[in-house]
Amino acid sequence: MRKPVIAGNWKMFKTVSESVATALALKPLVANANHCEVIIAPVFTALKSVANRLEGSNIKIAAQNCATERSEGAFTGEVAAFMLKDAGCSHVIVGHSERRQYYLETDHIVSHKTQAGLAAGLTIIVCVGETLEQREQGKARDVVSEQIVGGLSGLTASDLDRIIVAYEPVWAIGTGRTATPEQAQEMHAFIRRVFAERHSQAAAESLRILYGGSVKPDNIAALMKQSDIDGALVGGASLNAESFAQIVNYK
Ligand code: PGA
Repeated sequence: MRKPVIAGNWKMFKTVSESVATALALKPLVANANHCEVIIAPVFTALKSVANRLEGSNIKIAAQNCATERSEGAFTGEVAAFMLKDAGCSHVIVGHSERRQYYLETDHIVSHKTQAGLAAGLTIIVCVGETLEQREQGKARDVVSEQIVGGLSGLTASDLDRIIVAYEPVWAIGTGRTATPEQAQEMHAFIRRVFAERHSQAAAESLRILYGGSVKPDNIAALMKQSDIDGALVGGASLNAESFAQIVNYK
């Protein structure tokens, strides 16, 4: 059985006090959500404060990015994965399409960040997904399998239970245009097959694959009915405690 994961990606929103206020509002609303893992990803500056205030709760903390380097050093502006762990994170998101698009992250960089996160003991949420143009050209599967193979190169069998894949079609992020449950299911099943070929059937069967892209309280239930959709990575609708709690409590 794959335990679902509902993760909120707060992107570059909220000050420290706003982040703490949202986290504290969320806490009682999801306290009984035993059917899934609940994760929120505040900005770097708010991680420690939010983690401190959520200690002992069922909400886990993710960072939205980490350095490719594993140990400290002269890398101005970067934050190492072990520092995120030290600040209270259990997870880190890597390879989000906004990072690929605006900060030119390649699969090679994603792979190094994944390795750095694993070495620090974090669980990695690796994002993949095609653009609208790539989908219209019939290249969606090729793009996604290339991102999976390139971004997750060099993993050992023991790393795999700390890998979560998030399929986020770029054309569905922040656009209000969700992939249909069938479109998402089709790609999730494909990702699982790619994983089975590269690793093992058992690893593929236990891999959690999240859908992301305009997930809202009113579309989560239909997405979660699909057999290969194991949760969601939620952007806009995670910024508000009530709407994110509705998504978490989709059952
Ligand atoms: P969205 O963002 O839910 O606002 O579309 C999803 C994401 O980028 O992770």
